[in-house]
Amino acid sequence: MKKLVVLSGAGISAESGISTFRDANGLWRNYRIEEVASPIAWRNNMELVLEFYNIRRKQLFEVEPNAGHHALVDLEKYFDVEIITQNVDDLHERAGSSNVLHLHGELKKARSTVDENLVVELKHWELKKGDTCPKGSQLRPHIVWFGESVNTFPQAASRIRQADLLIVVGTSLLVYPAAGLIDYVAAKVPVYYIDPNAEKQAYRSNMITLAEKAGIGLPKLASQLIKGYR
Ligand code: APR
Repeated sequence: MKKLVVLSGAGISAESGISTFRDANGLWRNYRIEEVASPIAWRNNMELVLEFYNIRRKQLFEVEPNAGHHALVDLEKYFDVEIITQNVDDLHERAGSSNVLHLHGELKKARSTVDENLVVELKHWELKKGDTCPKGSQLRPHIVWFGESVNTFPQAASRIRQADLLIVVGTSLLVYPAAGLIDYVAAKVPVYYIDPNAEKQAYRSNMITLAEKAGIGLPKLASQLIKGYR
């Protein structure tokens, strides 16, 4: 089976009702990154940071995967699909994708503040001050904050190097090192970019752009790829 690698961003979850970051009504229009998504924010105002992720986690229990997520699951019948996502939601997993690597963490998990490898699943949407890890320290959101290292990057880069085709979907390609993953793909590998702003944002000439929403573009591309496979 050919290896199909997917790099997804917030746009793939937009049609499920989850805000992106940099669109007109995006999260960074309503919150300042340095106040809710950085180690300094956590030191300065733990409660505000906990609330920022609690609001997003609560919403996650109320939304469902969309046709874009499901199209990627359909492709698993014909390709060895590996998903690399910048998203912290679990919609890829809930749609049924079996191989998902989170670059920026996971909303439904929390992490010890004395041992970053001690990660716990959150069964409930609310993480509060005083909620502690098994070692007795305050739990923090299991999210890679700005200024923290993306520990899964080497694994993601190695997946992209082995890709026979790459689909980039729903990302503005503005945040590194995630956006730089595209440069790890071999020269001959086709790179599809699905995003309403694809033409404007495609920074490599060899990207095949589909200026569509994920819920339209991914099912369309999946059926083309499956037809070509038969
Ligand atoms: N379908 C596909 N793409 C969409 C849709 C949709 N329905 N709606 C919006 N988009 C596109 C936008 O055109 C934009 O290119 O999704 C992209 C969203 O870009 P960002 O909001 O910048 O999200 P993302 O690229 O995932 O951000 C990367 O930045 O703030 C950090 O950690 C955060 O993981 C995030 C990272």
